Amino acid sequence: MSSLKLLIINGPNLNLLGSREPEVYGSDTLEVIQNETTSWAKAKNVATEWYQSNIEGEIVSKIQEAREANFDGLIINPAAYSHTSVAILDALTLFEKPIIEVHISNTNNREEFRKTKLTARASTSLLEGFGKKGYILAIESFL
Ligand code: DQA
Repeated sequence: MSSLKLLIINGPNLNLLGSREPEVYGSDTLEVIQNETTSWAKAKNVATEWYQSNIEGEIVSKIQEAREANFDGLIINPAAYSHTSVAILDALTLFEKPIIEVHISNTNNREEFRKTKLTARASTSLLEGFGKKGYILAIESFL
């Protein structure tokens, strides 16, 4: 039995990690990050479910479904939707467990438009600029 069960959602274009701007996001694929993070979590008795979508409404539906499931919390990298999506913000606002928003890059060092993070208004904490390690740090903070 795992002591904690966490849902990890990744938004648009994160399926292309590895080949997408490796100088910004690193050279690991999402699959590698998922496998490494999942093994680390398992060793700490934490179960993780991973979901990736490029589609805003699908992410909204997944967050809504997660309200009915018995997750202890949510880790989300909404990717570009972080800067634009009131729909994802509203869905997150209805999620009653802790939420950690993760960004692989430090969005504050980048273009101006990335400084606005609508979705982070609903999150308990925000982790940015730690690369792929951000996912492990997020899980660790639940522990
Ligand atoms: C990102 C940062 C966003 O600005 C960008 O649109 C992404 C990835 C990150 O993890 O650093 O797709 O969320």
